[in-house]
Amino acid sequence: MTRILVTGGTGYTGSHTCVELIQEGYEVIIMDNLYNSTDVVLNRIEEITGVKPKFYKTDLLDIEGLRTIFKENTIDAVIHFAGYKAVGESVEKPLDYYENNIAGSINLYQVMKEFGCKKIVFSSSATVYGDPQSVPIKEDFPVHTTNPYGTTKLMNEMILEDIAHADEEWTVLLLRYFNPIGAHPSGLIGEVPNGIPNNLVPYIARVANGQLEYLRVWGNDYPTVDGTGVRDYIHVVDLAKGHIKAVEYALHHHGVEKINLGTGKGYSVLEVLHAYEKACGKELPYQIMERRPGDIATCYADTTKAKELLGWEAQYGIDEMCKTSWDFTEKNPNGIV
Ligand code: UD1
Repeated sequence: MTRILVTGGTGYTGSHTCVELIQEGYEVIIMDNLYNSTDVVLNRIEEITGVKPKFYKTDLLDIEGLRTIFKENTIDAVIHFAGYKAVGESVEKPLDYYENNIAGSINLYQVMKEFGCKKIVFSSSATVYGDPQSVPIKEDFPVHTTNPYGTTKLMNEMILEDIAHADEEWTVLLLRYFNPIGAHPSGLIGEVPNGIPNNLVPYIARVANGQLEYLRVWGNDYPTVDGTGVRDYIHVVDLAKGHIKAVEYALHHHGVEKINLGTGKGYSVLEVLHAYEKACGKELPYQIMERRPGDIATCYADTTKAKELLGWEAQYGIDEMCKTSWDFTEKNPNGIV
């Protein structure tokens, strides 16, 4: 059986990917420090799949702990999700971000090298494109970051590319996610942000369940369909399925590939809000505010490469994304506990 180590496997995208991996017949080993998640997720994965993955509560900064995982298990490939991910926090605590996301990741790559495990799928982000020159965004567009979080994604991409250039046995897939939202159709796993959410859909979900009063719409004077920001929202289950295709590809190829995972379609903030209103069956209050510093007008993917190379395409539309988000929110008002 092919054995995959999933770092950050109890997190949002990680947990959905573990479910898809198990359902495709892979053996999954999860490593997570539970900084931003809970081990209850392991029970939820078991409820969905019938399999409880082997779990190591290990921090990326603990290199001996990483060695233990590789000593005790023959790992065929790694999917690397673990990392801090809040843009605002990264501006305030850059050292924490560089230590965890860069030094921690280097530990992982070192240990992979020591144990001869040379296949990795890395969780990157469309944030590496900065403010794109045009849309849809293609993988060969120039990269540019505007905050330490984004820089850690880009630096990891560069480090992994250099590793693969130095040793052609490596396979590195850099998956650049657009905006993952939604939850598993079972309602058992989904996104549980720490504190007040910064991202759009987790925020709307809390307005819908009454925990927050109204949505603050960051600007309505962008050159878009209704003046509000446009993004490429992708259902987290589609994203997870993209990882399965990426692992399959990595198991049979060498070299480096950068691949966008998005739907190729953009929705404005108000369009998402209205789709959510439909999903939860109530009107959701909002107020137009000033633009949020650092935001861009429009961002959506050119998805040709994922289609051609991986044979992968997103299936879910915005209504299902909002419906599954709302279902998860209703079933888990206090998060995954
Ligand atoms: C943000 C990050 C990005 C990161 C991504 C993944 C910033 C500037 N960018 O992307 O680097 O990779 O999350 O988590 O933080 N919006 C509102 N009201 C809200 C929240 C959001 O109007 O309360 C709007 C935003 O202005 C934007 C859209 O909704 O137009 C999406 O915002 P968000 O979910 O934060 O994602 P990004 O900004 O695309």
